[in-house]
Amino acid sequence: MSAAIERASFQILEREDFSDVTYSLVVHHPLMAKAARPGQFVIVMSHESGERIPLTIADFDRGKGTVTLVVQAVGKTTKEMQQTCKVGRALYALVGPMGLPSPIGHAKKVVCVGGGLGVAPVFPQARGFKQSGAYVIGVLGFRTEKLIFWRDKFSACCDELILCTDDGSVGLKGFVSDGIKLAIGRHNDIDEVVAIGPPLMMQACSEVTRPHSIKTIVSLNPIMVDGTGMCGGCRVKLGDQVKFACVDGADFDGHKVDFADLMMRLRRYAQEEKAAMQRWSDNCRMKEQVASGGHNAALAFPVPPPPATELLELPDPFEEVQGG
Ligand SMILES: Cc1cc2nc3c(=O)[nH]c(=O)nc-3n(C[C@H](O)[C@H](O)[C@H](O)COP(=O)(O)OP(=O)(O)OC[C@H]3O[C@@H](n4cnc5c(N)ncnc54)[C@H](O)[C@@H]3O)c2cc1C
Ligand code: FES
Repeated sequence: MSAAIERASFQILEREDFSDVTYSLVVHHPLMAKAARPGQFVIVMSHESGERIPLTIADFDRGKGTVTLVVQAVGKTTKEMQQTCKVGRALYALVGPMGLPSPIGHAKKVVCVGGGLGVAPVFPQARGFKQSGAYVIGVLGFRTEKLIFWRDKFSACCDELILCTDDGSVGLKGFVSDGIKLAIGRHNDIDEVVAIGPPLMMQACSEVTRPHSIKTIVSLNPIMVDGTGMCGGCRVKLGDQVKFACVDGADFDGHKVDFADLMMRLRRYAQEEKAAMQRWSDNCRMKEQVASGGHNAALAFPVPPPPATELLELPDPFEEVQGG
């Protein structure tokens, strides 16, 4: 297959913006759609010199030959993709499916929990459990009603849907951990809970289920580089064991995960991430100034740039669902 044809197969067919910072991309990739299983992820490069970032396969349609990615703009690359990934454009590279598929098929009654952006990656699991004949209870958490997305998709595959909002604008006022407590109160025969979201949220969910001895699976998101088990960047601790999330997960037993270590490692490159964001912001600003100055770039540059901090106002990925 020629490079041109391969590139065309990563074309963005649809895009939806759920909020100022969250967007979905439906990408044409028939082979990926055929191979994808719930719980797997891809590594994406949006352009030739772009960073490789892992993104969960939030949906796949084998008939249409598409995979869906849901992205939250939290830093340089995801913000850049928010600007450049428009319908008709193509992603430069899309590698996968990576990671182990989620084991689906044994649980008869399961609670699928998604917090904030975690709502998207838990969808294929909820659908997979439903297709396997399980009774599925969805627990979805958002800060407020206007941030809700994919309610219809979950309604279609969940026997019960518990919506939680931090401000009580819809559903249960509270965190997804409160939603799990509600589900446990209603059902004393839950086999498994699957929780996906920020580490604090997954930790809180695991603590809710621990006293009830309910199997709890969480999807870990450590910093990944190669995604093939070679670099060790995605090392996570489970009790006295060390695992690589990219090849041993990303799903793990939430009761064993060392969440403090995960959160510490996620913040390890904060300075570099901030510097990359600042360089990119400065670059964008310069381009805008050149564009607004037409062909006379000399006129554009004397304008002093605004303080970089204005352009660094991005959401904290850990605050999307505070504390679970
Ligand atoms: C298995 C897996 C699945 C993921 N799925 C999704 C998803 O479906 N949607 C989504 O929006 N995000 C997802 N992420 C997180 C996403 O990869 C990061 O938000 C992204 O890499 C941030 O890059 P940035 O340049 O925009 O921000 P940066 O400023 O570079 O980083 C912001 C934060 O993102 C995390 N991060 C940075 N680089 C990486 C990296 N290479 N790998 C993992 N985390 C990183 C760090 O915690 C960092 O503090 C997933 C991560 C993993 C490991
Ligand atoms: S990303 Fe390198 S070992 Fe997992």
